[in-house]
Amino acid sequence: MQLAVTGRINPRVIDHILRERPDLTVKYWSEPGTISRRQFLDWATDADAMITMLTETVDREVLDRALRLKIVSNMAVGYDNFDLEELKRRKVLATNTPDVLTESTAELTVALMLMVMRRLRFAEDALRHNQWKGWEPDAFLGSECVGKTLGLVGFGRIAQAVMRRAVVFGMNVVVFTRRRLNTLPGGVRQVSWEELLTTSDIVSLHVPLNAESFHLIDDKALSQMRSTAVLINTARGAVVDENAVIRALKAGKLAGAGLDVFEKEPLSAASELRMLPQVTLLPHIGSATVETRTAMAERAWRNIAAFLDGKKPLDLLIPELWPEPQ
Ligand code: GLV
Ligand code: GLV
Repeated sequence: MQLAVTGRINPRVIDHILRERPDLTVKYWSEPGTISRRQFLDWATDADAMITMLTETVDREVLDRALRLKIVSNMAVGYDNFDLEELKRRKVLATNTPDVLTESTAELTVALMLMVMRRLRFAEDALRHNQWKGWEPDAFLGSECVGKTLGLVGFGRIAQAVMRRAVVFGMNVVVFTRRRLNTLPGGVRQVSWEELLTTSDIVSLHVPLNAESFHLIDDKALSQMRSTAVLINTARGAVVDENAVIRALKAGKLAGAGLDVFEKEPLSAASELRMLPQVTLLPHIGSATVETRTAMAERAWRNIAAFLDGKKPLDLLIPELWPEPQ
């Protein structure tokens, strides 16, 4: 049996895999940068199981070659890099890594919100460039979060973890999701899409990328938002129409943005986002803590280990591929 691991996961997890299943042949990416498409296609050809990163697109072209592949375990909670229809058609199991990155991603969301609201990047930059002339009553003024309304788009694990933090900060929280929510903490309300857009001081996105969420934040949505509002995105880049966001920021129809994810990653050197001072840009680091990335690698492996033991993997994305006992 051959396992291919397409990214540099914590070597301790690789050791753990080798100790637990000495019968496996393990190939893992240990070179700088991400695996090339050509190399990925090559590895997929011989693999019975794969641990993939979100940078690898698992589509028809890959699956046409991966004739031995039985399970593909994404080391990410998002799985928009998987073609689920094709996987289902070929009966290849697919899994992701929920739960383990919830808190780290919520922390990063809050960090981005504070960076934009308090203009921290601008202030820190000014100090480093020796432009700090001493304490002045009117210098470096931002806005505070207490008393403001945070609009959460989606209400999965990460949105709920952000909500808990926002409540402690003394913010009002409104939530938009299609699901009917029953029990919400005090100060938190479920609202319509229109109400979320028109009442939020900060709009934070927490939906997976799919056909329904593609360009959810577009010209129309931006035109309904307050001109003083701030947009935070730690979900997937294509949930927003990046060009529409750039237009809104330039026209003063959106006050700021904190973006950890982009329509095309890495962000192009020519992106106008880089020129906008009211924007904070981070290189897709929501889950980037030592603790979380190790836990993600472990979880990705546990899903494969369960399969190899004939047990149902915890995080099956296409549950109907798993035969239930009659
Ligand atoms: C990160 O973006 C993930 O989906 O885990
Ligand atoms: C700020 O540093 C203050 O003392 O008000």
